Amino acid sequence: MRVPIVAGNWKMYKTVAEARHLVSELVPGLQAIAGVEKVICPPFTDLLAVRALLEGTNIQLGAQNMHWEPSGAYTGEISPLMLAELVRYVIIGHSERRTYFGETDQTVNRKLQSALLHGLLPILCVGETLEENESNRTREVIERQLRDGLARLDLNDPTTLVIAYEPVWAIGTGRAATGELANSVVADIIRPVLEELFGAPFAQGVRVLYGGSVKASIAAEFFSQPEIDGALVGGASLKAEEFIGITQAAAA
Ligand code: 13P
Repeated sequence: MRVPIVAGNWKMYKTVAEARHLVSELVPGLQAIAGVEKVICPPFTDLLAVRALLEGTNIQLGAQNMHWEPSGAYTGEISPLMLAELVRYVIIGHSERRTYFGETDQTVNRKLQSALLHGLLPILCVGETLEENESNRTREVIERQLRDGLARLDLNDPTTLVIAYEPVWAIGTGRAATGELANSVVADIIRPVLEELFGAPFAQGVRVLYGGSVKASIAAEFFSQPEIDGALVGGASLKAEEFIGITQAAAA
């Protein structure tokens, strides 16, 4: 049985004061929901404050990115060693990192190796752009992202990795994929590649989330799909009522 995960990617939103406010609104509602792993991924500057507020709750903390080196002369970067003190999860290879900050499958691979080495639980994001989708290259792109991103990793425990399928055309556009389409990408592309790389028990046990314009009103459409194990939520994770509603749908 794959325990569902609902993770909120706050992106570059929320000052410390704003983060405290949002978390105080989230905690009572999220705490009451059983059977779902709940994760919030605020900006680095919020992590300490949010961590303090989440202490003693059943809500987990994640980061949105990291460098692969444990330390070094890398101005402006945050290392896995620093994160390991604060968070359990780390998002790796989000499409915004790939698009705006030059991340490649090769840097994603280094980050994944490093995250695992430091005991972090990576959420690896994959997904095709609109252009790739329209030129029928979805399979090719996702296969490459998985094969190159996961190259040389030796995985056998499916609870050590989470995958998020985030079609780039659905992110922040209000144009979510359908549950059926997302399910077919997971069933026909993502799990088969994982099976080839790490074997069937791993491929069947790993959690695969959907991300892209998820809102409370449409969340059930994704969670009712057999191959989708939760959601990675952007915009709607900044509104307590929405994020709680999505998490309730995952528990239902
Ligand atoms: P939206 O939910 O705002 O479309 O963002 C999805 C996302 O990128 C989560 O990582």
